[in-house]
Amino acid sequence: MKVLVATEKPFAKVAVDGIREVVEKNGYELALLEKYTDVNDLYAAVADADAMIVRSDKVTKEVLDHAKNLKIVVRAGAGYDNLDLEACTAKGVVAMNTPGQNSNAVAELVMGMLVYCVRNFYNGKSGSELMGKKLGLLAYGNVGRNVARIAKGFGMEVYAFDQFLTKEQIEADGIAKGAASRDALFETCDIVSLHIPATAETKLSINYDVVNKMHKGGILVNTARKEVIDEAGLLKLMAERTDLKYICDVMPDADAEFKAFEGRYFATPKKMGAQTEEANINAGLAAANQIADFFKTGNKRFQVNK
Ligand code: 3PG
Repeated sequence: MKVLVATEKPFAKVAVDGIREVVEKNGYELALLEKYTDVNDLYAAVADADAMIVRSDKVTKEVLDHAKNLKIVVRAGAGYDNLDLEACTAKGVVAMNTPGQNSNAVAELVMGMLVYCVRNFYNGKSGSELMGKKLGLLAYGNVGRNVARIAKGFGMEVYAFDQFLTKEQIEADGIAKGAASRDALFETCDIVSLHIPATAETKLSINYDVVNKMHKGGILVNTARKEVIDEAGLLKLMAERTDLKYICDVMPDADAEFKAFEGRYFATPKKMGAQTEEANINAGLAAANQIADFFKTGNKRFQVNK
């Protein structure tokens, strides 16, 4: 049985070592394809794989067509918009994610980027503080909850809106106040941090109108997916409203245009929210263990294509 780890953006070595240990302990063989730049290398590597672990790597119908033995693909991470779920189902491949395993890493980056932003990107000029500011979390899942926990320590007033949770469910952990609606979250908060997945419904949903609801000096933080932003709308708005800032861990397609907003825009060169040793170990090992458990007991707890 062969388990392929195919990661264009590799895990830390310590995580790969851990994955290898889990795979070999269970009597399987590990194959490693890292930093590939040609999709043909992925096609070749997946040809005899029974299981595959990926990160944001695209698992398309074409990839699956080359994977004659594949029974399971695990996205070591939360968002699985990179997996063609329909094609997985059509091929009888079980698709899973590893929810929660890398969420603290993303949450810490949110706070790090926020400090960087309110201190004027460390340019030496007088900035501002996060204490007492209103932070709005759009979606209150694993990442949102970790951001809330840390933001509380900063003395921020935390609000959240999640279309799948009631106000009571949001407020049950005693950390965030539930906002009445998504619009209310943008109207109320000084900073809004996005934690929604990229779905047909959320793509382009963060647009001119909704961001324009933020009051003067608003900051939009995006560590989710670039696809949820209507970039043309946000560019137009930032040109009109010179008080707004956009910071993101998902470089927009229009990075060059956003760069014109000097001092109001920052993007990491490569998505790095989940790029910590701890998150790599947590998500990578969870993926390897889920594969072993699936083969041994048929456990499909984290299946996302059902
Ligand atoms: C996720 O959805 O888990 C994060 O966006 C991390 O993605 P990555 O594994 O490509 O860093």
